[in-house]
Amino acid sequence: MTNQRSKLVVGNWKMHGRLAANAALLEGVAQGVQSLPAEVRVGVCVPFPYLAQAQTLLGVSRVVWGAQDVSAHEQGAYTGEVAAAMVADFEAGFAIVGHSERRAYHGESSELVARKTQRALAAGLTPIVCVGETLEQREGGTTEQVVGTQLDAVLAVLSVEEAARIVVAYEPVWAIGTGKSATSEQAQQVHAFLRARLAAKGAQVADVPLLYGGSVKPENAADLFRQADIDGGLIGGAALKAGDFLAICAAAGVGASVAE
Ligand code: PGA
Repeated sequence: MTNQRSKLVVGNWKMHGRLAANAALLEGVAQGVQSLPAEVRVGVCVPFPYLAQAQTLLGVSRVVWGAQDVSAHEQGAYTGEVAAAMVADFEAGFAIVGHSERRAYHGESSELVARKTQRALAAGLTPIVCVGETLEQREGGTTEQVVGTQLDAVLAVLSVEEAARIVVAYEPVWAIGTGKSATSEQAQQVHAFLRARLAAKGAQVADVPLLYGGSVKPENAADLFRQADIDGGLIGGAALKAGDFLAICAAAGVGASVAE
């Protein structure tokens, strides 16, 4: 089975970075992507305060920037929250929603993630909807049930046209920041399951980008990206070094040409 979809690699900086260090990283990435094949799309999701910096430093590059979360509310008395429209004010392209760290440390339910997805779409952002199982759930044999339920909660509130505009990231919780990536076969298996679930929503939804995240490194990226249903990656730790991030982006280019 060949994978004709273009590749997308997005960095998730999490709560890392300071103004001075970010400048070097953003400039390094902006410069490095110039030599990537056109079919590889690249994004970076930065902490909210650095959206303006990303806009300034990436503005003329092909790198798209974004946020790591948005509020489920449109606006109002929600101290500390950031609205999707505010993120869009900085010409951002992406907003991660439902990252497992938000689900685990901030008690976010799939229903809340679904509302955030709607807010992001309404503001013109592309939501990167994260799903993933814990080690306990994998070992208990409920991986598909868990990620299926997480995805279904989001798809349930979207029209087919809206669903066709999302990105989905499969991030097994046990693989995030642990150095222990899922094998390409494990990841592909879940991606194929998610693909079928998306296709069940409507034919236009079948081809939404499906990213893998969890300890993606320059060494394992090409093998992951070669899989039929893996359209790229959501990169945490390795996105903090321009060289590593660019090597992963380059691996996406190799994967794309191998698949054709
Ligand atoms: P990691 O994080 O690449 O550091 O494992 C991925 C993520 O949480 O998005």
